Amino acid sequence: MKLSTLLPLTLSSLCAAQTQFTGTYTDTKSGITFQAMQDSTSGYFFGIALPETTAGNTDFIATIGGKGTGWAGVSLGGGMVNKLLIAAWPNGQSIVSTFRKTAQYGPPAVATGTFSMSPIANGTYVNGTHFTYTFLCSKCILADKTTFAPDAAQPTLGWAFNTAAPSQKASASSMMNKHSVEGNYIIDMTKARSANFATWKGYAGGRVQRDVEEGVIAEVAEEVVAREFWA
Ligand SMILES: *[C@@H]1O[C@H](CO)[C@@H](O)[C@H](O)[C@H]1NC(C)=O
Ligand SMILES: *[C@@H]1O[C@H](CO)[C@@H](O)[C@H](O)[C@H]1NC(C)=O
Repeated sequence: MKLSTLLPLTLSSLCAAQTQFTGTYTDTKSGITFQAMQDSTSGYFFGIALPETTAGNTDFIATIGGKGTGWAGVSLGGGMVNKLLIAAWPNGQSIVSTFRKTAQYGPPAVATGTFSMSPIANGTYVNGTHFTYTFLCSKCILADKTTFAPDAAQPTLGWAFNTAAPSQKASASSMMNKHSVEGNYIIDMTKARSANFATWKGYAGGRVQRDVEEGVIAEVAEEVVAREFWA
């Protein structure tokens, strides 16, 4: 992720151990522009894109990832408990993703509901340093306070990261080890809104291209990716 467009959070100066940046970020591989947060220590990042008209909208596009081969998670409601959580991690050159929820602190169980994720192929990749998962989240903005509200301007989101992968990283239902770093931050959703949202939404569900370190491009059938995601 290029940091040039990301501005330091005011709060970050109070927190010596970690530096978080928020700002506008365009992923050059997908061409999608996000309002994003990045933690410079772990390389964790989360970015979100929304439609211009928020009334009645329940969908967003997001990108999440970090350095290495561990897992990255987001709380759509800020805290860990009783909020809708999403986590992703690499399994070789593929990305595994999962919805989670928990009523108490501890490994969150798989969450089910009408919400769903569809990967955006050119924004989903593992390279020599990072893993990146970009997806359309459909029916993910909920009215039950487990997520931010459709019209929220500056909601608090939560982030969590562990440099170690879940124990059964091929499985989206793997038990998840505790985060090694986590926190909350305020995101400016007004800057996440874009007239291009409908176009970007159309990118979801295609074929995923995988970058191998040598720079060779391999294509994987959509079904294989779907199995990884929903196994
Ligand atoms: C891997 O992808 C991340 C996220 O897009 C990027 O910041 C990083 O520079 C890339 N690393 C390499 C070695 O290309
Ligand atoms: C990403 O893929 C979509 C189609 O799925 C394509 O329209 C778009 O141009 C691609 N982005 C870039 C930067 O090539």
